[in-house]
Amino acid sequence: MTTIVVGGTRVSLRLLQPDDSDLIRAFFRRLSSETVYRRFLSPVTAPNDALLKRLVDVDHCEREALIALDDQGIAGVARYGTGHGESHDVAVVVADEWQGRGLGRLLMRRLAHIARLRGIGSFHATMLGDNIRAQSLVRGLSARTTIRFEAGYLEAEIPLRAR
Ligand SMILES: CC(C)(COP(=O)(O)OP(=O)(O)OC[C@H]1O[C@@H](n2cnc3c(N)ncnc32)[C@H](O)[C@@H]1OP(=O)(O)O)[C@@H](O)C(=O)NCCC(=O)NCCS
Repeated sequence: MTTIVVGGTRVSLRLLQPDDSDLIRAFFRRLSSETVYRRFLSPVTAPNDALLKRLVDVDHCEREALIALDDQGIAGVARYGTGHGESHDVAVVVADEWQGRGLGRLLMRRLAHIARLRGIGSFHATMLGDNIRAQSLVRGLSARTTIRFEAGYLEAEIPLRAR
């Protein structure tokens, strides 16, 4: 567990564990419906058992999630997993009251660092077309990030290896 100050508030960072489903369930209650829609690209109200199982299914190798905790529980999650050809899918979500304070960027940079150490070559992110924050975030992860518009979504390819 690492403690860090983000925008003047202390948060702890650690890897998610498979027995963290209560924390994940509580995190959903902190999220507005718009935030959930931007993260899952569909209107999830509360995670069902299948989704919860998927969200805590980390093996600390091919599937990883990094969480930030404040005094109310999880404040943000960045995760990667297999599922997009040679790239690993990546996604991030931050509690509404934390948005725009640098927490999403911090989580994604640290997750990218962990992934690089594990030999993962690239991330792939799917975002809504108007998601300016997420676009800034993925562009900031690599100077070689490319974003294309496809079937109503933005598809970002984020190389992690140095050329
Ligand atoms: C997208 C999300 C994770 C970003 O996290 P965040 O903590 O809010 O964002 P940060 O404060 O770290 O800022 C990220 C980038 O957006 C920029 N940004 C922040 N607020 C902004 C605003 N109001 N308008 C434009 N850009 C903004 C920041 O400058 C930063 O860019 P930089 O890295 O080039 O400096 C968060 O807003 C969120 O959870 N959104 C809903 C879920 C979602 O969209 N997930 C992405 C699906 S992959």
